[in-house]
Order: sequence, then C-alpha cells, then structure tokens
Amino acid sequence: MLRSVLIGTGSQLPRRAVSNEELAKTVDTSDEWIVERTGIRNRYIAGDDETTSSLAIGAAKNAIEAAGIEASAIDLIILATATPDQTFPATATQVQDALGCNGGMAFDVAAVCSGFLYAVGVADAMIRAGSAKRALVIGAETFSRILDWEDRATCVLFGDGAGAIVLEGREESGETPRGILATRLHADGAHNQLLYVDGGPSTTKTVGHVRMKGPEVFKHAVVNLASVLGEVLADAGLGDSDIDWLVPHQANKRILDATARKLGMPKDKVVVTVDRHANTSAASVPLALDTAIRDGRIKPGHLVMLEAMGGGFTWGASLIRI
Ligand code: UT7
Repeated sequence: MLRSVLIGTGSQLPRRAVSNEELAKTVDTSDEWIVERTGIRNRYIAGDDETTSSLAIGAAKNAIEAAGIEASAIDLIILATATPDQTFPATATQVQDALGCNGGMAFDVAAVCSGFLYAVGVADAMIRAGSAKRALVIGAETFSRILDWEDRATCVLFGDGAGAIVLEGREESGETPRGILATRLHADGAHNQLLYVDGGPSTTKTVGHVRMKGPEVFKHAVVNLASVLGEVLADAGLGDSDIDWLVPHQANKRILDATARKLGMPKDKVVVTVDRHANTSAASVPLALDTAIRDGRIKPGHLVMLEAMGGGFTWGASLIRI
C-alpha cells in the first residue's frame, strides 16, 4: 500500500529568546501568572531581518538534510502560515526558489494553529493519489508581527518559529507499516470570532492584530481534541495504549495535560515545548516533533499522534508510524 513516510524533520527558531521576566518589563504581567496559567517560560521573537520565509527556509534545509535527499527531489511544498511574508505570492514559492527545486507545486494553507495538520492531510492525500512523490510540509510563523503588545491577554502567549517535515511516497506492507496511518480534519465556522485577526486586505486594508476569547477557546480545545483523537485511533484500528508519543499543539500546558488525561496517557509520553517556544501557531507541532526526534525520544517504529486546534475553529489529528 502506498503510504506517506516521514523521512526527515527540521526546525528553526529566531535568534532572540525573550523570557517572561523580560516581557514583564514592558507588559503588565508577571512570570508567575504566565507560568501558572500557560506553562510558558520563554518564547523566540524574530528580528527585523528574520521573516516567516527565512525561518521556513532554515527549517526546510534542516529537514531535507535529515532526509538525506537533494532538494531537487521535492515536487510539492505546502507551507502552513497565518503570517505570510506578503499577502501573495504564497510564501511556499519563496521557499521553493531558495531551495532551487522550482517547477513542482508550491502553495500556502491558512488554518492558523491547525495549519500544519491541514497541510499534512493535503500532502498525504496528494502522495497517495500519485500526484506528488516527495512533499516538504512546513509550519512557519512570525506571530510577533500581528500581536497587540498592549493586550496582555494575548501578547504573552505567542512566539515565532518554523518546523518542517519531508514525506515520501513508499510502498509499505506488513503488520506495522511506516507512514501516515490516519488523519482527520475539522472546522466549525460558527466560532470564527472567538480567535481572529481584526484586519485584512479586503476589509480594513491592514494586517490587523490577534484577538482571542481565551477561556472559550480553552473549553472548545479540550473537547474537540479529545474527540478527534478518538476518531483517528478508530480509523487506524488502534487504541490509546498503542500510542508511543503525543505531539500536541503547544498552546497551553493545561490543555496538553487535560488532553493527555482524557487519552489516559502518562505525562512522560507527551512532548512539551510550550515552556521554551510558547504558542508558535502552525509551527508548534513540527517544532515539537523535530525536537523530540533530534533528542532521541521519538525513534523509528514509534507510533506518534499529532494534534492541533486553532482559529476558525479548525482542528485535526494525524497518526504516524515513524
Ligand atoms: O492556539 C490556538 C488555541 N489557543 C488556545 O488554545 C488558548 C486557549 N486559552 C488559554 O490558554 C487561556 O484561556 C489563557 C491562557 C488565554 C487565559 O487563561 P485563563 O485562566 O483562561 O485566564 P482569563 O482569561 O480567565 O483571565 C484571568 C485573569 C483576568 O483578570 P480578572 O478579570 O480575573 O481580574 C485577566 O485580566 O487574568 C488576567 N490576565 C492576566 N494577568 C496577568 C490576563 N492576561 C494576563 C497576563 N498577566 N498576561
């Protein structure tokens, strides 16, 4: 059976790390409040010379090197972002040109914090349909550019960064095939004003700032994530106890803990980077995945569940055997 097999991961963070203490010098907040309510201790903020495309290109190069392939072998690039360099063209085309793999497909997807899961779902479908052989899937964001630094309820929560994976179509057989086993994606537009940006080219003609009704998003996140994880496991014919690692969207440590509890997963099987990276939106899942693969926790053969929930609302999960 043709499957999308993960053959490499990579990531890139901006140079500048910003601690809660540093933030508290300019924002009416405290390290205690941020740690207690979110688990965040640090985030990375892009400098003027660092952009969504530059971070994406760094992450992509790392992933391609880890995969041991030439960039020219990539025939599909999907980049998930809510903070593109320009309204158009797609930031994916800038990545393609920098990698020198021009000629294949390249486009962005906009599903905010779930964007990477949406991009994985589309890439997997295109690989299994035979329309692409090797896909570079990237989540990259510079959310710091769309934060209202006067709004303490949002500006302390987010950070910048990029993560990338390479998927290759391979014939896999046997009882434990590698690759993406199941993916489920959802959206419920009825809630599109609970987490949004108050600007855009066709309305205000400005970029706008992030606005969020945090407690309401929190409640939906816990419910939606638990239900989509159940759907993906059922699709794959597997149970909670089969999962070796949960790699969740890194929005809030309390959401991670609640989701793990619902799955009956011990905390030491959950990859947590929210303390170091904060919420990097579409970049958070691939950043966490790359971290745990590079530090040796996630190993070949492991069954890994990726999940995310974000503005729209959008949410989804994907089960991969590494
Ligand atoms: O990535 C997409 C998905 N996003 C999420 O999943 C985010 C989901 N939501 C959350 O993570 C949480 O709701 C937050 C972390 C955003 C907020 O935590 P909370 O426990 O729900 O706090 P709250 O919004 O109910 O605010 C509690 C208090 C308020 O003060 P009063 O009204 O009780 O006096 C806020 O004004 O905390 C205050 N507050 C702060 N205090 C210090 C809000 N932000 C801050 C801050 N520093 N940065």
